[in-house]
Amino acid sequence: MPALNDIAAAAEVLKAGDLVAFPTETVYGLGADATNDRAVARVYAAKGRPAFNPLIVHVAEAQAAFRLGTFPETARILARDFWPGPLTIVTPRAPDCPVSLLASAGLPSIAVRVPDHPVALDLLHKFGRPLVGPSANPSGRISPTTAEHVRRHLGSRIAMILDGGRCKVGVESTVVSFLESSPKLLRHGGISQAEIERVTGLTLTVEAHSERPRAPGQLLSHYAPRAEIRLNVEAPRNGEAYLGFGPLHAHGPYSLSPSGDLIEAAASLFRLLHDIDATGVRSIAVAPIPHHGLGEAINDRLMRAAAPRDRA
Ligand code: TXA
Ligand code: MG
Repeated sequence: MPALNDIAAAAEVLKAGDLVAFPTETVYGLGADATNDRAVARVYAAKGRPAFNPLIVHVAEAQAAFRLGTFPETARILARDFWPGPLTIVTPRAPDCPVSLLASAGLPSIAVRVPDHPVALDLLHKFGRPLVGPSANPSGRISPTTAEHVRRHLGSRIAMILDGGRCKVGVESTVVSFLESSPKLLRHGGISQAEIERVTGLTLTVEAHSERPRAPGQLLSHYAPRAEIRLNVEAPRNGEAYLGFGPLHAHGPYSLSPSGDLIEAAASLFRLLHDIDATGVRSIAVAPIPHHGLGEAINDRLMRAAAPRDRA
C-alpha cells in the first residue's frame, strides 16, 4: 500500500475505525481512534501481540491530556516543559475518561503524550479525538523510523501510512508514572532522566521495563474483578453470571461477540467484565474462547483475572 501525505483522508479513515500509521519525532505509531473499542482491538490484532499491553494515547495539546487523566502538579510542570516532545506521562484515568478501557488494558491508569511532529499534530487536530499509537511494528520486531519500515512489516494489515520522513529522535518516548506518591521512570527514552529531574527537582525511582508496565502478578491483583472467574465453562452454575462467546442464548444477556468475532470480543472484554462485576454477582463463568488470533490475548487476560489472588 502506498505511503501518502493526505492528512484529511487519514482522519476520515480513522473516523471509520480503521488504522493509520503516522510519523512522530520518536518512531512511527500505529494510530487508531482511542475512544473506539473495536478500533483499539484492531491495533492489537495488527501487531499480533499475544497479550494486551496498555497503549500510549496521543493528543494535540496538554489541555486535552489533562482531561483524560488526573494530573498532579509535578506532572503538569513536566507536561508544560516537555510537550510537544518524547515524554509520556502515566496518571490515574479521569472519572469521565472517554478512552477505551482496552487501550488501558483494563488498568485504571492512562499513558498520554503530545508528539512533536507536524504531521502527527495536524492529524490529531483534523481527527479531533485522541489516538492510540503503539510503535507501528509487528510484535517482536524493532520500532520503525521510516514509512518504508512500516510498509514492509505491517503494510498489508493497515489502511494507510502517512509518510513524514525519517523520525528525528529514533527511540521511543520516556515514560514517567505518577500513580504513586513519588514519580517513577518506567521506560528510558527520548528525554533523559537527568533532564526530568532537573525540571522537577525530584529524584526519580527507576522501574524501567521492556514492554510491560508491571509484573503480571501486580497487574492481576490490581485489576481482577471482585467476582470469582471460572474459565472454559459451557453452562453456568445457579446464581452465576455467564459471559458467552457466540449467539446469546438461555445463559443470560452477556456475550463477548454474538457473531463469534474475536476482534469484537476483545473490544468488549474489559467493558463487559466491569459491567458484570458491577452487578455484585459472586462468580462469573466464561465460555471457551478460541485460542488463535486475538483469542490468545483474550485468554491471557482472562487467565490473569481467574488466577487466585492476594486480596491483602
Ligand atoms: O515514542 C513513543 O512513545 C511511541 C510513539 C509512536 O509515540 N509510542 C509507543 O507506544 O512506544 P507504546 O504504546 O508501544 O508504548 C507503550 C509503553 C509501554 O512501555 C507501556 O508499558 C507503557 O507505555 N504504558 C502505557 N500505558 C501504561 C499504563 N497505564 N501504565 C504503565 N505503563 C504504561
Ligand atoms: Mg513498541
